[in-house]
Amino acid sequence: MNSTNQSLKPLTTKINESGNLEIGGCDLTDLADKYGTPLYVIDEYTLRSICWDYKKAFKDFGKMNFLYASKALCTQAVAKIVHEEGFGFDVVSSGEIYTVYKAGVDMSKVLFNGNNKSVEEITLAVELSVGRISVDNFFELSLLDEIAKSHNKTVDILLRITPGIECHTHEYIQTGHLDSKFGFDLTQIDEAIELVLNNYKNLKIHGLHAHIGSQIFETSIYADEIEILTKEIARIEDKFGIKLNEINIGGGLGVKYTEEDCPPSIFDVAEIILNKLDSCIKKYNIEPPAIFLEPGRSIISTSGVTLYTLGSSKQVPKGKKYVAVDGGMADNVRPSMYGAEYYAEIANKPDKECVNNVTIAGRFCESGDILIKDIKLPEIEEGDILCVYNTGAYNYSMSSNYNRVQKPCMVLVNNSQSDIIVSRETLDDIVSHDEIPGRLNGK
Ligand code: LLP
Repeated sequence: MNSTNQSLKPLTTKINESGNLEIGGCDLTDLADKYGTPLYVIDEYTLRSICWDYKKAFKDFGKMNFLYASKALCTQAVAKIVHEEGFGFDVVSSGEIYTVYKAGVDMSKVLFNGNNKSVEEITLAVELSVGRISVDNFFELSLLDEIAKSHNKTVDILLRITPGIECHTHEYIQTGHLDSKFGFDLTQIDEAIELVLNNYKNLKIHGLHAHIGSQIFETSIYADEIEILTKEIARIEDKFGIKLNEINIGGGLGVKYTEEDCPPSIFDVAEIILNKLDSCIKKYNIEPPAIFLEPGRSIISTSGVTLYTLGSSKQVPKGKKYVAVDGGMADNVRPSMYGAEYYAEIANKPDKECVNNVTIAGRFCESGDILIKDIKLPEIEEGDILCVYNTGAYNYSMSSNYNRVQKPCMVLVNNSQSDIIVSRETLDDIVSHDEIPGRLNGK
């Protein structure tokens, strides 16, 4: 069975009676008119639909839990929708903790993760009673115990481990290989457990946590992960006499950025995970642990598109044709950072024949600011609206104010309605944190 992460476009994308692209019942050229560009658009139906896929795929396993990796896109409206669908949250900073808290999320369903959490961040997590903290290293174990003690609380933890599995994705987004900066090495687990059991009385360990990487297309790595984690749980029970009953296998499921990408269906991944779990439970003679998955990209990517207005163009004699948009690497750093590829269409000419090979250039002062290297589009005119697909994940969340350009607006569309969920930054926002020391003003 197919799942939403396998779609190149939001599920509601179609060509309307005016001959324009529409998403969530909203004409994209109208959205560009009303809210300006660049504009992030999130389709609520597509977002909910992938949540339904995840739930359906694992419906036969009673101890399944989903945590949305909010680093992919963390706004209060998105948090509300995902929470309504029954998901908890994987958060990695006080900003993410605070966002989901303000959105009214049940904090017991939040897992705080990260390799160098600050005292302030851990304190906030403890004060807001986040459900689990995934402890990454020895330094953090002792720091967390100290903070928990000073708050007179017992903190529920997982140990983040590096399972030593490599996956075939961009080197920058691999995390489970042996010399990764994240987590305890397998050989350090026993020492960490001894410390928790004997020294750190304000910590209670519930299980193990791992994450292999992101934009993963190989389903077998999830089985490898289950094998390692269940084996460890059995070994720990044997050696220390404690039952760890939670396994968090991270996120990572890939999405379809281009026609050529073939990410797996969550239904196939679920089958592999559950079959492997079943066999490992028997093999290692353990009680079925609760399983946690923390997908980010696959939850939000497909629902998002970015609209740009096409501006200047340039034909290099005997070279490329460049067409510039009014955004670029500050609202989507992925092409310049990872060489990521995207698919796009002209929203006001979706059914016109694609005749030109063009390069879509960003507006930022850097030659590397190219959004799409080579794409076939219809005859282009200034003012056309370009719709870049699959920009829901890691676009806004990695955006910057490079060149002091304001961050775009984000709208949520559903049933022909559009609502702002992140407002466009203003010029005053841009200078709002500047301070001019009095002495520079002659004071
Ligand atoms: N859990 C942990 C512990 C993670 O580190 C991550 C992502 C996730 C879950 C969610 O993974 P996902 O399902 O989104 O693949 N900025 C990069 C992606 C970095 C991912 C970092 N960790 C990009 O734009 O491709």
